[in-house]
Amino acid sequence: MSNVRAAVFASGTGSNFQAIMETESLACEVALLVCDKPQAIVLERAKTYNVPTFICDPKQFASKAEYEQVIVERLQEAEISWIFLAGYMRIAGPTLLQAYEGKIVNIHPSLLPEFPGIDAIGQAFKAGAKRTGVTVHFIDEGIDTGPIIAQETVTIQEKDTETSLKEKIQKVEHELYPRVINQLLQSK
Ligand code: GRF
Repeated sequence: MSNVRAAVFASGTGSNFQAIMETESLACEVALLVCDKPQAIVLERAKTYNVPTFICDPKQFASKAEYEQVIVERLQEAEISWIFLAGYMRIAGPTLLQAYEGKIVNIHPSLLPEFPGIDAIGQAFKAGAKRTGVTVHFIDEGIDTGPIIAQETVTIQEKDTETSLKEKIQKVEHELYPRVINQLLQSK
């Protein structure tokens, strides 16, 4: 097993977390799942893979800085060197960004800079776009901004519904994210 220790941050279902965990020859060990929602389904998935979880509810903290400081301490304790956001529904603040500069990667279901923010798939569908896609990028303090690492296009056909589009995008995500993670780690 690789000695690079990574954390996945997720707030929801965790299908990308699962895809990462199912990857053969992953170039890192997923040594921690950080989750901001105590009821999130991804926590069940983490149990299945014996990945330790850190549930940190921002409501328990007076500020984003305090919330992120606690997370950073937990990450350092676990000797985490990379963070992969997979459906983590929060904007990172300076505390996290400075502690892990250049080491935080996100996946977003659109061809950024098109359709940033929430419900990117719905946004593309409702806009009548002919194509959308998936972006893997480093994060900065913006909403789905930051240097792009990889993108893959998904065609929206006449017969597509929002549901079928979501399925197509997820299929691409589940293949693209682990591949990009491995490329990133192997090039370091
Ligand atoms: C994915 O579409 C990802 O691109 C976005 O949030 C969604 C998370 O899905 N950032 P899941 O929880 O991995 O199923």
